[in-house]
Amino acid sequence: MRAVTVLAVLLSPTLSLGATPPSELVSPLIPTKILATFKSLPNPIKYPQWTSTTGIWQFFDPDSWTSGFFPATPYELNKRRALCRATPANALGIADWLSVGRSASTGLIPLQAGNGQGHDQGFLAFPFVEELALNPRNETAKTAVLAFAKILAPRFSPIVRATRSWDWGSTDPNYFPVIIDNMMNLELLFIAADLTRNATLRTIATAHADTTLKNHFREDGSTWHVIEYNGTTGAVTKKRTQQGYSDDSTWSRGQAWAIYGFADMYRLTRDQKYLTTARRAAKYFLDNIPADGIVPWDFNGPLTPAPRPADSSASTIAASALLTLAKHETTLAANRAYTDAAIGLLTNVTRLAWNPSWQSLLSNGTVNIPANNKLTGTVYGDYYYVKAGNELISRGLLKC
Ligand SMILES: *[C@@H]1O[C@H](CO)[C@@H](O)[C@H](O)[C@H]1NC(C)=O
Ligand SMILES: *[C@@H]1O[C@H](CO)[C@@H](O)[C@H](O)[C@H]1NC(C)=O
Ligand SMILES: *[C@@H]1O[C@H](CO)[C@@H](O)[C@H](O)[C@H]1NC(C)=O
Ligand SMILES: *[C@@H]1O[C@H](CO)[C@@H](O)[C@H](O)[C@H]1NC(C)=O
Ligand SMILES: *[C@@H]1O[C@H](CO)[C@@H](O)[C@H](O)[C@H]1NC(C)=O
Repeated sequence: MRAVTVLAVLLSPTLSLGATPPSELVSPLIPTKILATFKSLPNPIKYPQWTSTTGIWQFFDPDSWTSGFFPATPYELNKRRALCRATPANALGIADWLSVGRSASTGLIPLQAGNGQGHDQGFLAFPFVEELALNPRNETAKTAVLAFAKILAPRFSPIVRATRSWDWGSTDPNYFPVIIDNMMNLELLFIAADLTRNATLRTIATAHADTTLKNHFREDGSTWHVIEYNGTTGAVTKKRTQQGYSDDSTWSRGQAWAIYGFADMYRLTRDQKYLTTARRAAKYFLDNIPADGIVPWDFNGPLTPAPRPADSSASTIAASALLTLAKHETTLAANRAYTDAAIGLLTNVTRLAWNPSWQSLLSNGTVNIPANNKLTGTVYGDYYYVKAGNELISRGLLKC
C-alpha cells in the first residue's frame, strides 16, 4: 500500500508541488489580444516590438532582432489548443493558430537572403523552428532555418572561439564584442547541424558556449553583458555592459538569457558543465530578487528614484528557463524547487504587469534604460509568458 501511495505522489505533479500558477496564464485575453495584434499588422508587414507607455504596439520593419517573436506566438497558441480543449471560456477556438503563425512569418522570408541583424539570427528563425517541429519535411521552414544558420556561422572566429555580436561600435579592426544574449542563437546551429549533417556547426556552438562560460561569469554566478575580445589574439580586452546599469552590474534580462542558454545547451548536449552553469546563473537570479518580488531591470540598478524600473521580460524569460532546468533535474526536490521558483516569478510578474487594457499582455518591460525606453510592453516578454504557461499546462500543473 505504502509503495502505491509513494508512486501516486510521484506521478501526480499537482500533489507534489506547492505553488499554484496564476490563472491569467490561461486567460482568454491571451488569444484575443494575439489575434487582434495579428489583424492590425501593417501592410507591407511590420512587427510589434514594444508598446508606448500607454500600451499601444509600435511596429518595426522585419529587419529587427525581435521580428521572430510575434509570429512564434501563434505557434504557441496552436500547441495550447492541442493541449486544451477549445472552449468559449478560454477563447482558443477564435482562430486557426497555425495559419496565423504561418501568415505572420511571411515577412521574415526575405531576411533569409541577408539582413542587418548580424548575430541575432536565432530569434529570427523561431517560427521556422516551430514549423519544422510540426513537419520536419517542410521545405520552406528548412530553407529558412539553414539560411539563418548560414548567416550566423561565419561570425564565428576560431581565434576567439565565439560568434561575434554586433559589427558597429568601434573603428578598431581588432574589436570583437560578444554578448551574453548570443547563447540564445546556439539552438539554431544544432538544428542546422542535424539538417545538414554538418558537425562543424555543432562545434561552433559548443565552442561559443565554452568561451562564454569561461569569460562571462563572475564568481557569484552573475554575468557581464559584453565581453570585448581582441579579434586578432583572442585575448579578453574589456568586460562591460551595454544595456545594464554599470560595467560591474548584472543586467537582469542578460542573466535570464544566461540561464536559458545554458539550460538549452545541457538539453542539446547532456554535458554536465552546462547544467552546472545554468544552475549557477539561476541561483544568482533568484537570490537577488528584492523582497517585494519585483525583478528590476538591473540587479544593481539604483533604488532611487523609486520605483526602480522593473523588467517583466526578465521574469518571463527566467521562468521559461527555470522550467527547462526543472525538467533536467533528476531529483524530485530539485525539480520542484525550480518549478516553484518559475511559478513564483510568473505569479509576481502577473501581479505587477498583467494589464488587460494594454495591447500587450504585460506592461513594466524595460527595453533599454540607457536609451530611456522603459514602462513598455515587450513582444519577447509576452512570448515567454505564453510559452511558460504552455509548459505548465503540459506538465499538468495548470488547467486550461
Ligand atoms: C511550410 O511552412 C511554411 C511556413 O514556414 C508554411 O507557410 C507552409 O504552409 C508550410 N507548408 C506545408 C506543406 O505544410
Ligand atoms: C559546414 O559548415 C561550416 C560552417 O558554416 C562551413 O564552413 C562548411 O563549409 C560546411 N561544410 C559542408 C560540407 O558543407
Ligand atoms: C590586439 O592585438 C594586436 C596584435 O597583437 C595589437 O596590435 C592590438 O594593439 C591589440 N588591441 C587591443 C585593443 O588590445
Ligand atoms: C514573489 O514576491 C513575494 C513578495 O510579494 C516574495 O516573497 C517572493 O520571494 C517572490 N518570489 C519570487 C520567485 O521572486
Ligand atoms: C508598472 O507599470 C505601470 C504602468 O506603466 C506603472 O504605473 C507602475 O508604476 C509600474 N510599476 C513599477 C514598480 O515600475
